[in-house]
Amino acid sequence: MAELSKTNEAGGVSEAEAVAAIEAPVERGEPILQVRNLQKHFPLTQGILFKKNVGAVKAVDGVSFDLFQGETLGIVGESGCGKSTVAKLLMNLEKATAGEVFYKGQDITRLSGRALKAVRRNIQMVFQDPYTSLNPRMTVGDIIGEPFDIHPEVAPKGDRRRKVQELLDVVGLNPEYINRYPHQFSGGQRQRIGIARGLALNPEIIICDEPVSALDVSVQAQVINLMEKLQDEFNLSYIFIAHDLSIVRHISDRVGVMYLGKMAEIGTDTQIYDHPTHPYTQALLSAVPVPDPEARAHRERIILTGDVPSPANPPSGCRFRTRCWKAQDKCATEVPLLAVPERFVGQDTPAAHESACHFAEEKAVLAV
Ligand SMILES: Nc1ncnc2c1ncn2[C@@H]1O[C@H](COP(=O)(O)OP(=O)(O)OP(=O)(O)O)[C@@H](O)[C@H]1O
Ligand SMILES: [Mg+2]
Repeated sequence: MAELSKTNEAGGVSEAEAVAAIEAPVERGEPILQVRNLQKHFPLTQGILFKKNVGAVKAVDGVSFDLFQGETLGIVGESGCGKSTVAKLLMNLEKATAGEVFYKGQDITRLSGRALKAVRRNIQMVFQDPYTSLNPRMTVGDIIGEPFDIHPEVAPKGDRRRKVQELLDVVGLNPEYINRYPHQFSGGQRQRIGIARGLALNPEIIICDEPVSALDVSVQAQVINLMEKLQDEFNLSYIFIAHDLSIVRHISDRVGVMYLGKMAEIGTDTQIYDHPTHPYTQALLSAVPVPDPEARAHRERIILTGDVPSPANPPSGCRFRTRCWKAQDKCATEVPLLAVPERFVGQDTPAAHESACHFAEEKAVLAV
């Protein structure tokens, strides 16, 4: 693993060195992406002609995590907690207010030129809505082949048609559909087209922002199976953002739970689903509907009181404290760090994973 470089634009590392680091392979299980204290504050302005700053929406406010080569990291959390903003920051589609995103040791928030282009090729995104994310006036061949205009080195002009047909085949679509338009496909097929486009440049990481939320249940399963197959075939690492906790458990090796711009808890799927220690995760899991009446009778439901506070004016200390049944004075004054809670340090138990709560305690709610 390359050294983390904070100086890649300030002269510490030349562009050629940065590109070489970005193109170098990473061993399976090594960190490929390291996110450190990432922040995105959107300014709130007032006035039409003379815009005055009156505050900021703290959409992402100090998020840190690693993504390891070959794994799937799921990110869950309520609507508006900042999941899509994190995705856009990782793609460098939004400029971070503060913090770093290291891709193979290079801070992508500071890269430019050839090095940024190389990163952009290696990190791709699949979006939620297959109906609006594909240009209706372009043929499927042009949509999937569009990334080759920017990166002709991946597929020279004469080879593009063959390459696009190969990609259609890889995602389970008939290569003869190459001249069709998006409206001639079903939702599931369109999402396959989106995935084919994401794969076109042989990326290493694919960030999937709710890739199956707009699809019906049986098609969801097909797309998820396809994504798992492609992960093995092309050695991909995924960040998988979704609302559906059972889908996230199915596909993820590790899961991060976000609340109001911060990471509340992160761990393996077993640690998070069977041994959650953060009250927010426990409440979130307890809200999952259970079909089995026997299991339903024995489970405890945690009902959260109050609304989600505004990210423009989040609570002091722990952000979850205004809705937390365990909150004490300390929670209003001290921001809990995302770390293995002191009481579990050194213990070989599934509860010993990172949780941002002063009073983290294991509570089995329900396995989904
Ligand atoms: N361009 C923007 N300008 C101002 N505020 C924004 C902008 N983009 C997002 N926000 C705000 O940032 C917060 C986080 O938004 P984000 O889209 O990241 O949430 P999310 O977790 O993806 O939600 P969902 O699950 O509904 O997709 C929200 O309060 C949103 O209103
Ligand atoms: Mg979103």
